[in-house]
Amino acid sequence: MGSRMAKRIAPEELRSNRWFGAENFTGFSHRSRMKQVGYRQEDFVGKPVIAIVNTWSEINPCHTHLRERAEAVKRGVWQAGGFPVEIPAFSITETYMKPSPMLYRNLLAMDTEEALRSLPVDGAVLMGGCDKTTPGLLMGAISMNIPAIYLPAGPMLRGNWRGQPLGSGTDLRKFWTERCAGTLSEEDWNSMEAGIARSPGFCMTMGTASTMTALSEALGMTLPGASSIPAVDSNHTRLAIGSGDRIVEMVWEDLKPSDILTRSAFENAITVDMAIAGSTNAIIHLVALAGRSGFDLDLRFFDQISQRVPVLANIRPSGAFLMEDFYYAGGLPALMAEIKDLLHLGCVTVNGKNLGENLSSATRINSEVIRGRDNPLQPTGGTAILYGSLAPNGAVLKTSAADPRFLRHTGPAVVFRNYDDVESRLNSDDLSVAEDSVLVLQNAGPLGGPGMPEWGMLPIPKKLLTRGVRDMVRISDARMSGTAYGTCVLHVSPESYVGGPLALVENGDQIRLDAENRTLDLLVSPEELARRRAQWVKPAPKYQRGYGALYLERVTQAHKGCDFDFLNRQAPTPEPAIH
Ligand code: FES
Repeated sequence: MGSRMAKRIAPEELRSNRWFGAENFTGFSHRSRMKQVGYRQEDFVGKPVIAIVNTWSEINPCHTHLRERAEAVKRGVWQAGGFPVEIPAFSITETYMKPSPMLYRNLLAMDTEEALRSLPVDGAVLMGGCDKTTPGLLMGAISMNIPAIYLPAGPMLRGNWRGQPLGSGTDLRKFWTERCAGTLSEEDWNSMEAGIARSPGFCMTMGTASTMTALSEALGMTLPGASSIPAVDSNHTRLAIGSGDRIVEMVWEDLKPSDILTRSAFENAITVDMAIAGSTNAIIHLVALAGRSGFDLDLRFFDQISQRVPVLANIRPSGAFLMEDFYYAGGLPALMAEIKDLLHLGCVTVNGKNLGENLSSATRINSEVIRGRDNPLQPTGGTAILYGSLAPNGAVLKTSAADPRFLRHTGPAVVFRNYDDVESRLNSDDLSVAEDSVLVLQNAGPLGGPGMPEWGMLPIPKKLLTRGVRDMVRISDARMSGTAYGTCVLHVSPESYVGGPLALVENGDQIRLDAENRTLDLLVSPEELARRRAQWVKPAPKYQRGYGALYLERVTQAHKGCDFDFLNRQAPTPEPAIH
């Protein structure tokens, strides 16, 4: 590792030259079609052809500005002597896509990889930000392995309600809880609707979007400082131009994802994930991204790093501020500079410099928003990986977002067979539940959901809410929004749909959570569990055809990153023949 030896490829070595450079029938055909669009030969032959992979869509509110930003990227590409082509990609919108946007992350990854492979492009600027778009775009680009740079959409501005800053997701949940408890009027609730998301950009809490864009920067796949710039700040337009400018040079240097995404780069990303108290979803995505890069990330590795990294980002849901504040405080470079000694500074990044060089001028401007090592929000990382008889392959708990009282807890299970069961019984007067109960949700995993929906922050039953209860232990094989909070044990693996121990839990079983010792156990005898297993019946699959059926057949479990098994393979995929 360290500074990369300068290498230059010649124009005739460009990948696009296979399409445009040949003096034969095929070359004629390819060139004539560019001329059909109105380009001159010298515009595109012998120049790096840059795909601007754009997840803009009118139905994706987090990406509404990306069409405009693509024009800025094009300016950068033209000015650097490249040839830009905008390519639409499947736009995964967290807000609207059902049954779960996670079902479609791998589809975006396939879309990205195959578009880059099948078309005459030499490099790519990947434009995304809403939760699954970051990992989806990066997974595809890693597998294609041509020079690529990630351009995060940027967070929304702070929400505002009667002068009070609101965080998307986090405050929605917080105030909905109060609405259910009867402590917030209908008028107040309705008036928040127009203030909680008031600009383009992704969720401005430290949810999955802000986490994944931060981790793409920590991995070295964005320009320095890119992940925290608010979507509507004019610096974001300049970032887009800079990304377009830089990708052209990356093509000449042949700087590919495989040069950047080393095991050390992934270790940096996990370290940063812990220091920002990132979304639990990041664990699944990082495992998948590493798998595409040829590395196996064991969940225990996350836990080891978590135990040596303090939480420094004071951002909701674990902290008090929002991403706009984080940007003004110095952004991710300032946070990374504070944990320099825990990072591999020799890792190469997309700007051709190593991480240490990029951090040399980082300044922490607000020490309340980005805490110092002497005053962390939490002394160790915000994520614990649990193992035990209830989760033989692991489960995840965001300790920074949990009520400390529950981090060591034993209580009786209240079991819901699926989410329909939650909706029909959770608030019924007959539900036998107390504050020390452990709510258990089955059949919400990768296959059972399907698509592992974000149902893991199970609502507190109304009868407890009205008594003032705001947190309790909840366990599922689902995921949880990065903007959510509470003592929610997630990603239990193997999931209940495939017969994991979670499938065998019954009402009244004692469950023991011990976050300090990283254990999660079902206190039921092996004999009784064997009896239940013999009677267990696998639920019927939700899909018989189409993408859903492919997903059910080939998706891996949570601890393996929920990638498709055939995409994770390291076997080379041939370049297309040009005829
Ligand atoms: Fe797009 Fe939250 S809905 S990031």
